[in-house]
This record gives sequence, structure tokens and C-alpha cells, in this order.
Amino acid sequence: MSKFSKVNAYVSAVGHWMPRRVVTNHHFASYLDTTDEWIKTRTGISERRFLEDDQPTSYAAVKAIEATLENRGISAEELDLIIVATVTPDMIYPSTACIIQEKIGAKNCWGYDILAACSGFIFSLATAAQFIESGMHKKVLVVGAEKMSAIVNMQDRNTCVLFGDGAAAFLLEPTEDKSMGVMDSILHIDGKGGKFLFQPAGGSLNPTTHATVDKGMQFVHQEGQAVFKEAVKGMADISVELMEKNNLKSGDVAFLVPHQANLRIIQACADRMKVGMDKVMVNIQKYGNTTSATIPSCVSEYWQEGKIKKGDNLILTSFGAGFTWGSILLKWGI
Ligand code: UT7
Repeated sequence: MSKFSKVNAYVSAVGHWMPRRVVTNHHFASYLDTTDEWIKTRTGISERRFLEDDQPTSYAAVKAIEATLENRGISAEELDLIIVATVTPDMIYPSTACIIQEKIGAKNCWGYDILAACSGFIFSLATAAQFIESGMHKKVLVVGAEKMSAIVNMQDRNTCVLFGDGAAAFLLEPTEDKSMGVMDSILHIDGKGGKFLFQPAGGSLNPTTHATVDKGMQFVHQEGQAVFKEAVKGMADISVELMEKNNLKSGDVAFLVPHQANLRIIQACADRMKVGMDKVMVNIQKYGNTTSATIPSCVSEYWQEGKIKKGDNLILTSFGAGFTWGSILLKWGI
């Protein structure tokens, strides 16, 4: 990314893992005032996956990391750093990175969590690339992992139908080929958006008490329409800015990889960017919004299906709570 670094950070392996338990729209229609038709037409979601009660976020993360390491043919001991993007850590602390490190036996690495909601993976990937470009590390693992089913109110039709659980990872390594890998990024936060999407209790502002639990303050709260409009504008405008900065026309982009919160947001974003939907990665119909796992799971699935070619330009873009948003230009290198 930096003109001054000797190497670029390229994605040398990807992997994803989704829970076995499939929860269809009909499940929610069986006990809430909603329908399969409403959910499909308003969000594009048909089903999502939920982890079991005894499976925390780290369970999904470990499976996705194991798949990634297997695809690269290396052991966890070779990792230098693990960065975990999540809003659903196993516990507030220790970090989920520490929990994962022990579970996979990554004896020679350090790590930490990044909390940037739906932009967690984009922010983590941009951060990870810096450790490679600086020469400090050779193998950095970035994983987006979530158990959203643990923090949504299953009685609130406004939110419970939207989210899902899952995990996906990228392994980053150095390359001397400066025309490959993480090429550029534009990242933003704006705290004014905080009031539209947040989890009110469980932190130091509103520590968990009987009263906070009685009021359901431990759950996701969202003003959907306010987030919707900002998400379309936020993702489309910085993606165009990133393309212009790098002299790319829409024809030069193999795939737009948008955060998967709502198919209508994805379509409106593609329209605003003048990119055809055939060039947009979509898996929301199967998994819903898996927060920090949406972007890497799309890339991993499309890669597994042989749809991404070496040299392809991918624009990864996200928008989420905070507000947080960002776009990364990634030139595919495997
Ligand atoms: O990933 C983080 C970022 N998050 C996002 O980007 C999400 C952005 N927002 C959205 O995706 C959409 O705003 C939603 C899917 C959350 C909602 O869709 P909408 O088209 O914006 O609906 P709305 O909020 O304007 O609600 C329209 C109606 C309301 O009823 P009234 O007040 O008009 O009677 C809602 O109560 O739809 C109702 N509604 C539902 N009806 C049936 C909301 N949820 C449901 C539901 N089933 N599940």
C-alpha cells in the first residue's frame, strides 16, 4: 500500500466456516408477526445459520482459521499475529484472539481484537497489511467471526431476522510484486452515527444489572432506515473515490465485495457506482448479516468456486455501527 515499503501484503489463503444449524424465515414467521415474503423482499435473506448454545464465537473462528491454514498448507505455529474482528467476543476480556491462540496452538504469535462492527474486517485487514509492509511480520491472520444470535432479541422482528453467525479468515504474507495484494484503502469513522445502531448495556456506561436486562438493553438496537441511507452513500462514495484515486474504471473491477446487511443496500450501492450486479459478490440470502464475517466469507466462497482469478481487482467495502466505513482495493494474488 505504501510507496515506501519494500513489500506488499497479499492474501495467500482464505477460508470460511458456517454453523450447521440453518434457521429459515419460516422459523421467525412461526412465532412473530412477520412473513418469509417480507423478509425476502425487504432484505434478500432466505435463511441464516446459528451456532449452538455451547459454541461461542471462537468456535466458528477456529474452524475458519483451520480451513485457511489447510488451504495454505502451514501450521498455526507459523503465525506471527492474529487479528480478530468481532462485536461478539466470547467474553469482554480476555480478548478472543487469546482464546483462539490457545485453541489452535499458535505458540509463536501475539494478537488482539478489533471492534469496528460491520467494518471490523476491513479495519483489521488494513491494520494487518501495515505489519507486513513494515517488515515486522511474515504471516498475519485476520479473522472475522460472530455469534450475532447471542446479542439479538429473538422477540424483536426489526432485528432478529437480519443477523446470522459465522466466520471467515484471510492469511496475509509479503510479496515483492508491488502490483499485487492490498493496494490502497480509505477508512472513516463518525461517532454522530452511534445513536442509530448500538448495544446499550454490558459496558462501563450501563453495566449489566437486573434493570438493564429487564429493559432488554443487552440486545442490538437499530434505526434501520437511518442506517440504510448512510450505508448506501458511505460504501458507494468511498469506493468510487478509491477507484478514481487508483485510476480504475468500473470495467477494471472484477468484483465489488460489499458488506452484506441488506440486498437492497447492495443493489443501491452497485447502482450508484454503475457496477452491474453480475460483478457484485452476494451471499446474504444464505447467511444474513454476519457482521465482520460477511466480506471474507463472500471472498472465500467465490474463491472456492473458482470465480476469482489471479490479478483480479476486488473492491471490498463496508458500513456499520459507529458509524464506521471503509473500502480496500485488493489485487488478487493466488
Ligand atoms: O450491518 C450494519 C448496518 N445495518 C444496516 O445496514 C441495516 C440497514 N437497514 C435495513 O436493512 C432496513 O432498514 C431494515 C431491513 C432494517 C428495515 O427495512 P425498511 O424497509 O427500512 O423497513 P422500516 O424500518 O421502514 O419498517 C417498515 C415497516 C414497519 O412497520 P410500520 O411502522 O410501517 O407499521 C416495521 O415495523 O416494516 C415493519 N417491519 C417488519 N414487518 C414484518 C420491520 N421488521 C419487520 C419484519 N416483518 N421482520
